[in-house]
Amino acid sequence: MIDLQPVKGTRDFFPDEMRLRNWLFEVWRNVSVQAGFEEYDTCVLEHEELYIRKAGDEISKQLYSFEDKGGRRLSLRPEMTPSLARLVLQHKKSLSFPIKWFSMPQCFRYERMTKGRRREHFQWNADIIGQADIVAEAEILMLLISACELMGLSAKEIRVFINDRRILNSILNQISVPHEMHSEVLVIMDKRDKISIEALSKLLQDIGMSTTQVDQLNEYLLKSDLIELKKNLNDTQGIDELQNLMEMMEKAGFSDYLQFDISIVRGLSYYTGAVFEVNSPAKQHRAICGGGRYDSLLSTYGGEIVPAVGFGFGDVVVLDVLKDLERFPELPRKLDYTIIPFAREQVGTALNIAAILRKNGSTVDCNFSMKKMKKTLQQAGESGAAKAILLFPDELTENKVVIRDLRLHEQKPIKITDLLSSGE
Ligand code: HAM
Repeated sequence: MIDLQPVKGTRDFFPDEMRLRNWLFEVWRNVSVQAGFEEYDTCVLEHEELYIRKAGDEISKQLYSFEDKGGRRLSLRPEMTPSLARLVLQHKKSLSFPIKWFSMPQCFRYERMTKGRRREHFQWNADIIGQADIVAEAEILMLLISACELMGLSAKEIRVFINDRRILNSILNQISVPHEMHSEVLVIMDKRDKISIEALSKLLQDIGMSTTQVDQLNEYLLKSDLIELKKNLNDTQGIDELQNLMEMMEKAGFSDYLQFDISIVRGLSYYTGAVFEVNSPAKQHRAICGGGRYDSLLSTYGGEIVPAVGFGFGDVVVLDVLKDLERFPELPRKLDYTIIPFAREQVGTALNIAAILRKNGSTVDCNFSMKKMKKTLQQAGESGAAKAILLFPDELTENKVVIRDLRLHEQKPIKITDLLSSGE
C-alpha cells in the first residue's frame, strides 16, 4: 500500500477545508480589488538564482530546489516578491507607475515545522511599486487591516508592530558597524525571539562585531519610545518618516492598530525602510503577516532602483488565530436542490430538470443511488440541500414532481413547468 498521507509539512484540502480556504481567498481578493489593486500570477517554478542573496537569508537555505532534465537549477517559489520584481523588470518600460498588484500564490519552504510554520502555505501578497512616498506604506497597511476587519479581527485582537530599517541602520552607524555588514547583522538580529541572547551575541561576533558593539546594540534595542530614541541618534530620517506615517494613519482612523516596536527587523535582507508584522497584541502567535519597503530589490537583479513596498499574509497563522478565537465563519455547502429519481427510466427527466434549473441559476445535484426512499432522504438531508425534488411514477404521469423542504420536512406535488419557470 502506498503512503496515503500528504508529503510532510503539506496539506490536503477536503471540501470543508476548501470552503474555508475559498472564503479566505475571497476576503483577500475583495479587499484588494476594492482598494484598486490588480491581480497577477506567475508559475510556482522559478530559476533558483532569484532566491540566492549575499546576506545569508534563511529563505535561501530553505529552497525546494533541483536540477531539471535540461540541467537548469530551478526552485519552487518560497515567496512571491522576487517573481514580482522579475515581472516588473520584464515590462518596466510599458508599465505606468505606481502599480498596485496583488496575488495569492502557494509558497514552499523547507521549514523546521512548528506551530504556524509549514512547508507549504498560501500567501496573499499586495505590493505598490514605483511610489517612494510613505503614502504607499499607509495604503498597504490600510489594506491588510481592512482584510483583518472583514475577518472579524479588530484592534482588540490584532496589532501592526512597526519599525524602520533606517532606524536600525542609524543605530549600527552610531556604534560604528561598517555599512557593508548591516544586511548580515539585520538578518541575525531577526533571530532575536528564536535564540538565546548569548547565541545571538556569538553570531554577531562571528561576523565581526566587537563585544562592546554587541552590548551597545542590545542597549539601544531596549528603547521602546521613538522620541527617546530620536534624542540618541544622529541620523533621524527613519524616525521622522515613521512618525509621519503614524500621523497619517491616525488621521485615516487606524492609529489603534499601530505600535512602534524596535525589535521588528524581518528576516529578508532586501527590506530598506518600514518593516512591520501583524500579531495579537501580546504576540502570542507567529507573525500573521509581514512586510515592508524594499527599494533596492529590483536593482539587485540588474535594474535601476525602483521604490517598492508590500506584504505577505499567510493562510496558516490567521486561520489558527480565528480558530482559537472561535471566529470561523459558518460555511455550509450551498445547494438549492437535490433531484432524486427512484427508477432508471426517470434519469433522463432528472437530468433535464437539473439542466434547466442550473441554467436558471440554481445549484442542483442529482442523487442517482436508487436506494430506498428512507435512505435517499437521509442522504439528501446530509447533502446540505435546501429542497429535494422527488420523481415518483404517479406524479410524473401527470407531469408533476414532489418537492420536499428538507429543513421543515414538508412536501407537496408541483407541476414541472411551474417549477422550471418560477422555481419553488
Ligand atoms: P515573510 O515574512 O517571509 O515575507 O512571510 C510573510 C507571511 O507569510 C508570514 O507572516 C506568514 O504569515 C506567512 N508564512 C511565511 N512562511 C510560512 C510558513 N513556512 N508556513 C506558514 N506561513 C508562512 C515574505 O515572504 C515577503 N516576500 C513578503 C513581502 C511581500 N514583502 C514585501 N512584499
